[in-house]
Amino acid sequence: MAKKDKYLVGLDLGSTKTCMLVAEMDGEQVRFVALGAAESKGLRKGLIVNLDSTVSSIRRAAEEAEGVANVPIESAVIGVAGSHVRGVNSRGGVSLGNRARDVERDDMRRAIDTARNIALPDDREIVHILPQEFLVDAQEGIRDPIGMVGQRLEANVHIVTSSVSATQNLVTAANKAGILINDTVLEPLASAEACLAQDEKEMGCCLLDIGGGSTDLVVYAGGVVRHSGTVAIGGDHFTNDLAVGLRTPIPEAEKIKHLHGCASSQFLREDGAIEIASVGIVRHARFSLAI
Ligand SMILES: Nc1ncnc2c1ncn2[C@@H]1O[C@H](COP(=O)(O)OP(=O)(O)OP(=O)(O)O)[C@@H](O)[C@H]1O
Ligand SMILES: [Mg+2]
Repeated sequence: MAKKDKYLVGLDLGSTKTCMLVAEMDGEQVRFVALGAAESKGLRKGLIVNLDSTVSSIRRAAEEAEGVANVPIESAVIGVAGSHVRGVNSRGGVSLGNRARDVERDDMRRAIDTARNIALPDDREIVHILPQEFLVDAQEGIRDPIGMVGQRLEANVHIVTSSVSATQNLVTAANKAGILINDTVLEPLASAEACLAQDEKEMGCCLLDIGGGSTDLVVYAGGVVRHSGTVAIGGDHFTNDLAVGLRTPIPEAEKIKHLHGCASSQFLREDGAIEIASVGIVRHARFSLAI
């Protein structure tokens, strides 16, 4: 294996920062090697709004990651997320013939193929087809139907689609920064692979990736993805509300959020008075912050 083939590179283009992660394949193990991160101002809710700024942000993140990993980065897997991504559940099925017979791997593939036949507008493409369960002669809840006997095999799948142009723009930005894109992955799905234990997926849980411009989510139950989606609200909306409500500059509002923000009122300090810089005025005002 050539040295560079040992490395896996992930590229996450966010509304606030671009991240490039380098990992090394060590047999079955994947080992973290380097992270490059750069401020990003070229994206909003997963869509590129400024190509040049996105390209330069990718270059800076790549340079940092290359410096630490000490390998040239030529290609990467890119994350897709945001308002242009949708998830739907679908079912498809195939006949196994007039007489019951064993289900084979090819039957599974054909059943999944029929399930992916959803009406898709020209401007949308499939990112993932995630099998949920199989049904043999209407018996539900089968994870692996190979070898089971029946006359009809059906597949339930979760299909993730994205806007062709939005995804192509991400790929173009990476290409302009000198990086080829090998594949695309739904970002919260990649986060779930990293953060969730198999037990949690089995019992059922929702993974939220709260970003700057949007919140992406996947819902697991019975070990498989049941739902994926996006809420068009992220951390920056809270920063902006603070900036407007307290008449303070955005960087100051961001600082206040980090230092004093809390999700539950029981964690608020008794004396919630804090000092805040006002817009255009050097002096500091005192506000009592109760969110
Ligand atoms: N310690 C913290 N407390 C509260 N909010 C935080 C903290 N650290 C970061 N944030 C917020 O998280 C958001 C950035 O998250 P993240 O880096 O995941 O976004 P992104 O991936 O760039 O954006 P997106 O996924 O929406 O395109 C910002 O709104 C930032 O203010
Ligand atoms: Mg993000």
